[in-house]
Amino acid sequence: MNTYLVINKHMGFLIKAVFLSILASCLALSLVVRSEEKPVHIGLLLDNLKFERWQRDSNLLQARAKEVDAKITVKDAEGSDDLQLQQANELLDAGVNVLIVVPHDADKAAAIVQAAQKKGVPVVSYDRLIRNSPASLYISFDNVQVGKLQVSMVLAAAPEGNYFLLEGAPSDNNAHQFEKGQKLGLQQAESAGRVTIAGESWCRQWSRAEGYEATAAALKKADGKIAAVVAANDEIAGGAIQALSERKLAGSVPVSGQDADLAAVVRVIRGTQTMTVYKPLGPLAKRAVDAAVALARGNKPTTSETLTNGSYSVPAILLQPIAVDQKNLGGTVISDGFHSAEEIKKVLAPGEWDKFIARKR
Ligand code: GAL
Repeated sequence: MNTYLVINKHMGFLIKAVFLSILASCLALSLVVRSEEKPVHIGLLLDNLKFERWQRDSNLLQARAKEVDAKITVKDAEGSDDLQLQQANELLDAGVNVLIVVPHDADKAAAIVQAAQKKGVPVVSYDRLIRNSPASLYISFDNVQVGKLQVSMVLAAAPEGNYFLLEGAPSDNNAHQFEKGQKLGLQQAESAGRVTIAGESWCRQWSRAEGYEATAAALKKADGKIAAVVAANDEIAGGAIQALSERKLAGSVPVSGQDADLAAVVRVIRGTQTMTVYKPLGPLAKRAVDAAVALARGNKPTTSETLTNGSYSVPAILLQPIAVDQKNLGGTVISDGFHSAEEIKKVLAPGEWDKFIARKR
């Protein structure tokens, strides 16, 4: 066998061996770097934990953080802007790498973004938009679509008459988007003279009590002649239905909602609430945490669009909401496990579930 070939063969092995050892050391190095990469510390600032959906968001966000080895510290502002800003500063002083914020007040929360910016900490505006400040990402649902879905199902049940619009907190940017979608969806029926917006009220704390008071007052003013209540979420819808039931109108006057709260699912089954808007929170929380970790590491999360929040254009991810009534409750909220059939049966009276299932056949 000639010498040249022998040398060549050994050179080949040598080159291969050198290449493989370089590859191995790179791999080892990256493992070391990765293992030594400090886990990202997320600061989660919630407006409140008194409503069912925020409890669920908080659990889902914490669960995802755990899955991706991120540390997460949760703060509940109990509906107070001052407390939320104080909590933000505490987290920033504690060295968080990124903030996920559910603002109580869309404008006042800009101070949180400014404080974070001073520390070079990115902010994710979660579900609700923070206005007039350079947040790094806004992630939510298409909230104008939420309003459109609410009126489309109510119009199907009450195509004409006096409508009462029951809105959420004016401090919440979402509440204005829901209202915008509702009014867009009512335009045609209004201009055709079929529907009249007989009244509109805003619930500063999104509370059931406010929903009840406002609807009772609207019913009194209209002498009970209200054809439908377009309620922006399930909590205030519950108050509206209480006011309607006092006039034996619950079940005959259509009412919308949002959030697929357990109590609302029961009302939909009973027929006192016409629909709710289901927003799958799992994907929202997962994408928010993944984006927060990417931002904390100096990377740009993939976004679907950009929108302006007044003075800044903010990268955004908007997920699609789902309209739910008796017909598709099983194939959405229940099949997703958002609420299990067992959980619902527990709060229904004996026989109500079977009657519901039989009705659907
Ligand atoms: C909105 C949110 C709704 C509803 C409401 C009251 O911002 O999008 O899902 O829960 O707040 O908390």
